[in-house]
Amino acid sequence: MKVLIVGSGGREHAIAASVAKSPLVKKIYCAPGNAGISELAECVDIGAMEMEKLADFAEEKEINLTIIGMDDPLVAGIVDVFEKRGLRVFGPRKNAAILEGSKAFSKDLMKKYNIPTAAYETFDNAEAACEYLETSEYPIVLKADGLALGKGVLICNTKEEAKDGVKTLMLDKQFGSAGDRIVIEEFLTGREVSVLCYCDGTHILPMTSAQDHKRAKDGDKGLNTGGMGTFSPSPFYTPEVDEFCKKYVYQPSMDAMKAEGRDFTGIMFLGLILTEKGPRVLEYNARFGDPEAQVVLPRMKNDIIEVMNACIDGQLDKIELEFEDNAAVCVILASDGYPEKYEKGKVISGLENFEDKEGYYVFHAGTKKTDEGIVTNGGRVLGVTAKGKDLKEARANAYEATRWIDFSNKYMRNDIGKAIDEV
Ligand code: AMP
Ligand code: GLY
Repeated sequence: MKVLIVGSGGREHAIAASVAKSPLVKKIYCAPGNAGISELAECVDIGAMEMEKLADFAEEKEINLTIIGMDDPLVAGIVDVFEKRGLRVFGPRKNAAILEGSKAFSKDLMKKYNIPTAAYETFDNAEAACEYLETSEYPIVLKADGLALGKGVLICNTKEEAKDGVKTLMLDKQFGSAGDRIVIEEFLTGREVSVLCYCDGTHILPMTSAQDHKRAKDGDKGLNTGGMGTFSPSPFYTPEVDEFCKKYVYQPSMDAMKAEGRDFTGIMFLGLILTEKGPRVLEYNARFGDPEAQVVLPRMKNDIIEVMNACIDGQLDKIELEFEDNAAVCVILASDGYPEKYEKGKVISGLENFEDKEGYYVFHAGTKKTDEGIVTNGGRVLGVTAKGKDLKEARANAYEATRWIDFSNKYMRNDIGKAIDEV
């Protein structure tokens, strides 16, 4: 098979590494890819949003399967573009990707089908939103309806902060039209868990759990980022939580989408929060998490191509997912200053230390090949993943491996996986 992967982050590198292990695959392309992915795949200079161009490429190269890694093209309808041309593609269609593309849609769906989530109201009008805030309890959460690079969620401790938030999202339009509509929701507390599930339109198969660290600084301080590190499995995702989610969350979400005529195929990613009253859904995403994919996929024993084919063909009931009985931790190496201002173009040394090291991975995100060597080219630069027999060993291994790499403005959190000490 010839496979095309669309995207350029650590997630796509992790997907490429899994695809490369499949005996079914003889050639991998990635658009646009990055320096690390180019070791496994031929990178082609087409942007992830150039949907027709990507389809042209898939046609011309006779690609057998295209895997969409990123949310933007999914929400924009890349799967429909491919399918219209008879091209095989992994991901939800536009009418299903709306589960990630519109928070108001996903909240209304959960309400209609009794899927446990935070109480909320939706507003199209800043004045009405502010009026609602007069009688709300605090803290409260404001969410831009549309895609905002994971940054469209504001947790507000006071009425004043919340009113400022409404202004930021709806009037100053910090996230453009994503903030034309907002969701105001109840603030929940608890551990967060990410569960990525394969879906075939009817059936849903959850993968092993993971936990992300969204804030930039140690102790969950600083700004929200795309994710600064992950571990898998989450020790807080107990058999009881799993049982609850199987009964009230996963299949009910699939059934709800089907009932709405929006059969969901691809990856349904559930952002869960484990509250005192039980698990609640914080959000849905329509693709693999990043950096969740960087700890979940290296632990998956199945051939990813077989699983994705089963998703596309509505045959997931014939698949049993298997994960290694171990743990993995990923620490993101970022450019100092991320997610705000940071410098790029710093030469990266030490990447060769990962060659042939069983159980260690360096997934590239913001990197670029130049005449000087591989240089930094983004906020999140690399994801260093290591496995271990348990979470503690995996964490020690991952932090050890972060020392093998250097670049002048290297920044990382030093407390990824700290939560496991509480178990
Ligand atoms: P989301 O993009 O909806 O997952 O929100 C991003 C982050 O904001 C989540 O990972 C949580 O840390 C936080 N968050 C979102 N919704 C809530 C909520 N209702 N209560 C508390 N924290 C939340
Ligand atoms: N790590 C969170 C996300 O991919 O949205």
